[in-house]
Amino acid sequence: MMTPDNPFPLSGYHGPEYFCDRKQETDAIIRNITNGVNTTLLSLRRMGKTGLLFHVMETLVRQKKAQCIYLDAYTTQDLRAFTNALASAALKTFPEKKPFGKILLEWIKAMRPVISFDPVTGSPEIELDFKQPEQFEHTLSGLFAMLEKQDKRVVVIIDEFQQISNFPEKNMEARLRSLIQHLKQTRFIFCGSDQHLLSDMFNNVKRPFFASTQTIRLNPIPDPIYAAFIESKFQKAKRKIDSGAIDFILKFSRTHTFYTQSLCNRLYADGIKHIKQETVAITALRLLSEQEPVFFQYRSLLTMQQWNLLRAIAIEDTVQKPHSKHFIMKHQLESASNVQRSLDALIKKEMVYKEQTEDGVFYRVYDCFLSRWLSKMR
Ligand SMILES: Nc1ncnc2c1ncn2[C@@H]1O[C@H](COP(=O)(O)OP(=O)(O)O)[C@@H](O)[C@H]1O
Ligand SMILES: [Mg+2]
Repeated sequence: MMTPDNPFPLSGYHGPEYFCDRKQETDAIIRNITNGVNTTLLSLRRMGKTGLLFHVMETLVRQKKAQCIYLDAYTTQDLRAFTNALASAALKTFPEKKPFGKILLEWIKAMRPVISFDPVTGSPEIELDFKQPEQFEHTLSGLFAMLEKQDKRVVVIIDEFQQISNFPEKNMEARLRSLIQHLKQTRFIFCGSDQHLLSDMFNNVKRPFFASTQTIRLNPIPDPIYAAFIESKFQKAKRKIDSGAIDFILKFSRTHTFYTQSLCNRLYADGIKHIKQETVAITALRLLSEQEPVFFQYRSLLTMQQWNLLRAIAIEDTVQKPHSKHFIMKHQLESASNVQRSLDALIKKEMVYKEQTEDGVFYRVYDCFLSRWLSKMR
């Protein structure tokens, strides 16, 4: 693994050294794996699910507890692509030079696939092209049966799992569920961002995956833990960061992992020796202004009413009662029914998210930086 130059990398997983916390979640997922429980991992986008999955894989492999097959379903659009991607992912985990990898490759080859090789990693990409969709199901079922027979436990991780509900094949959930429900050794982790869709898949009595997994919701990393992490990274580079500056970072970014990392990455890149609160304020504004072209693009995708509501929510940061007279008057919005219509549209476009907490429901602009920028706009 290459060491990143900046201790706050913005993509990929770079080992435990660059990974903040998530101890409880890592332990909980590993406990599930060793106790025969499948896991569903949910959170807002950019909160750190994929990072956590890679962290869990790293831990499992280092502790020699399991072998992991990772599939990002986001790039698959039907059962065929899904099957091919899973077969390719399995070959990546079990390369040909390992005994089981050899058996696996022979088995796949018997189905006469087109095999190409990834130019960067050199790992094989499988392309099965059956006429009948059932043949893909057979392949999946055969693949799982082979994984079951491994002496070492196999964990199959499917990221962006909600994608399967977009497949043109009917009853994808029921088909997959029936393929995996009899497996005794192989464990699954389902992961996704489309909170509502995915949680409905696992929590709705009428759906095939109902109550078949344990759900873990990924919340922001606790402020004190993230603060200590940030401080230690600057200290290690012989630089000083004031505690007021760290507070500012966490507040500005809502401790929403991607946004916190982005701000820290920039502060580190700027090379300033002593970072004060003012330094962060200036850097944050600069980050926002660099993104203006993207933000303006968002505007072109929304109606005037939607844009005005989005801005009103951003100004408040969190809104509990968007239909209240007070909120509507204060931000010169139109009627409550108008607000409702715009709100529905903004949620559907994932521009706003709705969160249910003990204190009730609240709404926020999804993209934290867009929210900060909107609230500053005149
Ligand atoms: N625990 C962590 N510590 C440091 N950076 C993290 C952590 N988790 C995620 N990240 C970073 O935050 C960003 C978003 O994380 P990602 O895992 O892609 O989110 P998600 O899969 O929920 O959309 C990525 O740039 C990732 O490198
Ligand atoms: Mg992800």
